[in-house]
Amino acid sequence: MSVERGEWFREARFGMFIHWGLYSILGRGEWVMYLEHIPVEEYSKLSEKFKPTRFNPDEWVSYAKEAGMRYMVLTSRHHDGFSLFDSKVSDYTAPKTAAGRDLVAEFVEACHKAGMRVGLYYSLLDWRWPAYWNGPKRDPEGWSKFLEYVHTQVEEICSNYGKLDVLWYDGAWPYKAEDWKSAELNAKVRKLQPEILINNRSGLPEDFDTPEQHVSFSPPGRLWESCMTTTEYFWGYCRGDPWRPTKRLIQTLVTCASGEGNLLLNVGPKADGTFPAGAIRILREIGSWMRVNGESIYGSERCPFSTSVGTFTAKGNKVYVHVFRWPGREVCVAGVGNDVKDAYMLATGEYVKFSKTGSRVFLRGLPARAPDPYDTVIVLELDDKPRGLTFKVE
Ligand code: GLC
Repeated sequence: MSVERGEWFREARFGMFIHWGLYSILGRGEWVMYLEHIPVEEYSKLSEKFKPTRFNPDEWVSYAKEAGMRYMVLTSRHHDGFSLFDSKVSDYTAPKTAAGRDLVAEFVEACHKAGMRVGLYYSLLDWRWPAYWNGPKRDPEGWSKFLEYVHTQVEEICSNYGKLDVLWYDGAWPYKAEDWKSAELNAKVRKLQPEILINNRSGLPEDFDTPEQHVSFSPPGRLWESCMTTTEYFWGYCRGDPWRPTKRLIQTLVTCASGEGNLLLNVGPKADGTFPAGAIRILREIGSWMRVNGESIYGSERCPFSTSVGTFTAKGNKVYVHVFRWPGREVCVAGVGNDVKDAYMLATGEYVKFSKTGSRVFLRGLPARAPDPYDTVIVLELDDKPRGLTFKVE
C-alpha cells in the first residue's frame, strides 16, 4: 500500500464506530435475533416500527468532533440483513420500510459536510439467507445467488454516496475469501473508491488489522485499529449494559497510540436516532482530555523507553510520558539513549525538573497527587528521535 493512502488513518488515531439498526428497537444488543432465536418473519416486523424521527447525523458528527475523533464508521448492514441504505437487490431496507429514508446517504453527507472522514461497515453474512447457513458446498446454486446479492450491495454502497474512506467488512465466518470471492469484490471496490482503506475481515489481509475488544500491536508499518465498545458487552443499543469507565477508555486509546494503532470506539444509538446519555457523557469526558492532550495522540509514533508508571507515545524528537499510575513526586523513565533537552507538563507547559543517571531519567518535584485523574502527560524533548537501550547488568 502506498504510504500516502494510509497517512490520514495514521494521523487520526481515534474514530467512532456506530452500530444502529432494527435491533436498536429491542435494546438487547445487535445479536438479539440470533441469541433469542427470533424467526425471520417475526424479527422483520421491526422494520415497520423503525422510524428514527430524532436522527440527526449532524449531531452525531458534532459528538464525534467534540470527543476528538477524526473518522466515523456506520453499520450499513449488520448480520440481521436490514440495510440502512437503498438497494436494488433488497426491499428490507430503511428507505423502503417505515423509516422511508436512506440513512446511509444522510450520514455520509453529514460527514462530508463537516470534513469528517467516513466509512461503512458491511456484514458479508446475512442470517436471513438459508444459503448462508448451508454454505457453498451444500448449496452452490443458493450460494451464488447470495453472493450476487452481497457483491451488488457492496458495489452499491461504494457507488452511491461519494467518497468513502473506509470499508469495514465483518462476518466472513465460517467461510473463506475464495468462497466470498473477496479478491474479486475488493478489486471492484478499489475501482470505485481508489483511495479507500479496506479492513482485514473479508478473509484477506488488505489494508488494516482489527483486533476486537482488545489491543494488539501489528508489526511496524502495518496499519491497525482496535475496535471497542463503550459498554461492557454489546455494540448495538443494550439496556442495562454497564458503561465502561472513561479512565479505562482513555488509557486504551493511549495504549493503541503507543503502538501506532487506532481506537474505533463504538456507540449504539437508540432506535429514535439519539445517543444514550451515558455515551454522550463519555464522549465529552474523553473530549476534554483530548483537547489538552491530543498532541500526544494524533500521528503518534512508538517509543522504545521503559517505565513502570504507564506508557509512551512519541513524535519526532518529543516523547510523551503517559502516567497512568501516579506514583507521587518522582517518575523514572528508563532505557533512554538520548540527551534530554527539556521536560514539561503537557497540560500546563510547566517545567519539570529532571536529571539523568546512566540510561535513567528521573522527573522530580512532581505534585503528590495526579494532576489528571485519567492520564497525566509529561513531555520530554530530546536531542533526536528516541533511541532505546535495553536493560542489562554488566
Ligand atoms: C463482531 C460481531 C459484531 C460486531 C463486530 C464489531 O464481529 O459479530 O456484532 O459488529 O464484531 O467488531
